[in-house]
Amino acid sequence: MDLVVERDYPTLSRAAAEVVTDLLMAKADARLVVATGETPLGLYRNLADRKVRGQIDTSRLRIFQLDEYLGLTLDDSRSLYRWMREVFLEPLAIRDHQVTRLPGDAPNPTAACRAYDHEVEQAGGYDLAILGLGRNGHLGFNEPPSDHDAPTRVVTLSPETVHSNARYWGGEDRVPRRALTAGMKQLLAARRVLLLVSGRGKRAMLARTLEGPETPHVPASFLQRAEHVTVITDRDAMPMPAVSFPGEV
Ligand code: PGA
Repeated sequence: MDLVVERDYPTLSRAAAEVVTDLLMAKADARLVVATGETPLGLYRNLADRKVRGQIDTSRLRIFQLDEYLGLTLDDSRSLYRWMREVFLEPLAIRDHQVTRLPGDAPNPTAACRAYDHEVEQAGGYDLAILGLGRNGHLGFNEPPSDHDAPTRVVTLSPETVHSNARYWGGEDRVPRRALTAGMKQLLAARRVLLLVSGRGKRAMLARTLEGPETPHVPASFLQRAEHVTVITDRDAMPMPAVSFPGEV
């Protein structure tokens, strides 16, 4: 794993945008699986700026949804697809036919998960997984315990995740208890993983991700065995003693 420690959230977001831009330059038809949540928002804003300036071409990208609540329709304000559309797809001018959803409103969600895995496989796997780190060590909604070979599936959200996500939707009773998540197996097989981690609240879990034993109880710890992982963190999330930056005493 490569670990990049940035001064703060804006520099973390710019560094992440550099990584993604380099990848898009090298492979304009790349297959990306992209997280929602707060952490990647700065990255997405940076990419949107680059798109406006004509620095990146998104017309041939293929985008896969990382996770979705079970039972929500597309127009539900809590739908993660809707969130992804607002912060990523629309600002980057990515059209519907470029996107593979994880349909929380499918009549048979288990079959929809199998179809999603099949589609990822047929496409040749993910080139890039843009991920955040859950306070409980989840990736997507691969809640602990999740093994390294877990497929895309329907899951029950842990109380920590329900609690943590309540801040987006105005209370725990607004957070659905079940969800669909892209599986660990295909996330770990991505040609490149970009894990973004910001803030003190993530410090303990980042330490376990980077250095702890690989365990289903910290799904992110399995990134230690993935091929090409770049973790970009800000100082606040760093478990080690403070790093100095140029110009600081
Ligand atoms: P966050 O979510 O970026 O909003 O902290 C990360 C996650 O729970 O996966």
